[in-house]
Amino acid sequence: MTTSTDQLDWSTDELLADHDYAEPQIVGGVRCHGGYDDTGAYVSPRTRNRVPAIDAWQRAHRATFATDIIDVPLETWPEHYPNVPQARFLLDHGVRDPIIAVLTRIGTVEGFGGLIRYTSVPDLPSTFVEDTRSTALAHLERGLFEAHARDETGHEDEGGHTLMWWTARDIAFENPVTEDQTTLMLERMGISQPGTGGAIDPARLRAEAIANRILPADIDFDLESMLNRMIGLLFIEISAFHAFDWAQTILDDTDRVAGDGEAGSIIAHIRSDETPHVEYLKTVLTEIRDRTIVDEKGHEHRGADVVGPLWNRALENSLGVRRDAQLDAMRAEVAHAVQGRHDAGDLLAEFDALGSTERDARGHWAHRVGSLA
Ligand SMILES: [Fe+2]
Ligand SMILES: [Fe+2]
Repeated sequence: MTTSTDQLDWSTDELLADHDYAEPQIVGGVRCHGGYDDTGAYVSPRTRNRVPAIDAWQRAHRATFATDIIDVPLETWPEHYPNVPQARFLLDHGVRDPIIAVLTRIGTVEGFGGLIRYTSVPDLPSTFVEDTRSTALAHLERGLFEAHARDETGHEDEGGHTLMWWTARDIAFENPVTEDQTTLMLERMGISQPGTGGAIDPARLRAEAIANRILPADIDFDLESMLNRMIGLLFIEISAFHAFDWAQTILDDTDRVAGDGEAGSIIAHIRSDETPHVEYLKTVLTEIRDRTIVDEKGHEHRGADVVGPLWNRALENSLGVRRDAQLDAMRAEVAHAVQGRHDAGDLLAEFDALGSTERDARGHWAHRVGSLA
């Protein structure tokens, strides 16, 4: 239902436009974004022009620069923790809380994606030697960031991914948590929701980010933070595909969860909504990689030398400290869920035995770092 186009310049309204739906998407009684065509197939929101536009920018980039769009294979990231056998084992022993916690956490983290709309984009003509008109880069503030933000957090009276994940959880586990429990659970896992204490001080964050910067000081800091944000989000988006697979398998399992597979199809819809996020982020990063950046002193830098170090550091973090922190938080959540049970020790031992030996495989992933160049 997506038509191909060579058009490279779009208005914000065009990039935010929906298809005409035969039916809206209603999830657990709530209107969510997207809808169904007249064959009953799900159609993602805001993809009427956004998807053909991204495809046109990718083709134009290949034609102009004779390079390909950056790719990050899904296999770069390890499988979901807990894995499917571990999750089934927990459910079969009545230990539902860690699975509920995963779904709650993913929904919450998806909502953080909405912050992308506050990213400042540096002045393009003075930052790049080459022309940047008619690119995905030139459309970040003309609909691409906004469409992404709306997909994650919802918009006006339409729910987005946060609501869809939580609803999938509530259908599968029959309204398992109250708001209080959710907040406590997220705190245990080291995630605080916006607006629930732990106020974010933008000036402090900026000072910290400047102290941590790794590019030469003459390169516009806004460019470095925009790149960091986009690379970080791209890695979250790609690694999330393992979580989608995992969640679909668990939630489609009608012997173990409620809802007759409805929860699993919500996840399938979210998953299809994510594809344009991955595609526009990869496109913009490629457009920057293949251009020349001018710093404040007028010196020129190859885009690859600017994107590369940030990319490598983010990949190391994603596979290293962040992955470790997530494993630790999740393992603690399992321990928390079984504590007080007479068979707690046995359950934990069996749970661990079903795990993959992924921490040992760290060296294997690390050698992929630097695949950008
Ligand atoms: Fe999402
Ligand atoms: Fe996304």
